[in-house]
Amino acid sequence: MTQKLVGKVAIITGASAGIGAATSIALAAEGAYVAIAARRADKLNEIAQQIEASGGKVLQVITDVTDEAQVQNLIAKTKETFGRIDILVNNAGIAIVGQIANANTDDWRKTINVNIFGVLYATHAVLPTLLEQKSGHIVNVSSVAGRTVRAGIGIYNLTKWGVNAFSEALRLELTPQNIRVTVVEPGMVNTEIDEHKLGVKQISDPVAYEKSQALRKSITSLESEDIANAIVYAVTQPERVDVNEIMIRPTTQFW
Ligand SMILES: NC(=O)c1ccc[n+]([C@@H]2O[C@H](COP(=O)([O-])OP(=O)(O)OC[C@H]3O[C@@H](n4cnc5c(N)ncnc54)[C@H](OP(=O)(O)O)[C@@H]3O)[C@@H](O)[C@H]2O)c1
Repeated sequence: MTQKLVGKVAIITGASAGIGAATSIALAAEGAYVAIAARRADKLNEIAQQIEASGGKVLQVITDVTDEAQVQNLIAKTKETFGRIDILVNNAGIAIVGQIANANTDDWRKTINVNIFGVLYATHAVLPTLLEQKSGHIVNVSSVAGRTVRAGIGIYNLTKWGVNAFSEALRLELTPQNIRVTVVEPGMVNTEIDEHKLGVKQISDPVAYEKSQALRKSITSLESEDIANAIVYAVTQPERVDVNEIMIRPTTQFW
């Protein structure tokens, strides 16, 4: 099989688990050199070993996307190591869901910092390189929750609607510069998103946690590889093709 991304360099945030890990492996399998970023060194290392065992080339950069300096370091290290940057997948995200009334507002700050500022910092840091190259592709992982709203996940909705609006603004600004923007909106995907915050349960509201788990159990969720396949599709199109938006639900998810 011909690899479609030979000579390309991709950065993936939130690459230590779930959709980001699967996307890193899939892009590397297409021949891209990948810079993988997340906070957990051990998990990143596992993904890196898997990529290397299949003949891929990978750079690990421990990065907390809520820290602008760390994100700038990720972009700089990638360029220094691989010489260019073609694809940025803004995937790192958290979902501390719960009702608005009586919420712990610290959960709001965490969610907005990762899901919004993480995307903004990485995009801002990578743009000078893409503009200089007059080519590149930014993929923002949003959610069905960026297009529809449900009671009990309002702040997650807010961040993902924000990612969608930002992606469209970015597309409008970057179209004349030959830079592509894709927003990907998954439905339920079978990952650890409900579970972890560096090993600690993430959703602090027990009712919201049970609701989310019940919803997940009520259908056959997508797998991370399903979303990785969609991202590979978007970034391997001919340069004249800009896939703006991909929404993917599990077949039995009606919401
Ligand atoms: N799973 C779903 O049902 C679903 C549906 C729609 C959209 N999405 C979106 O898909 C994306 C990936 O989610 P997932 O389901 O794959 O979740 P996941 O399995 O929990 O993985 C999340 C990834 O983000 C990283 N991350 C979290 N906080 C970070 C931070 N501050 N700095 C850097 N990395 C951070 C985590 O790594 P570390 O902990 O090692 O930092 C991990 O690699 C998110 O944007 C999510 O909103 C998921």
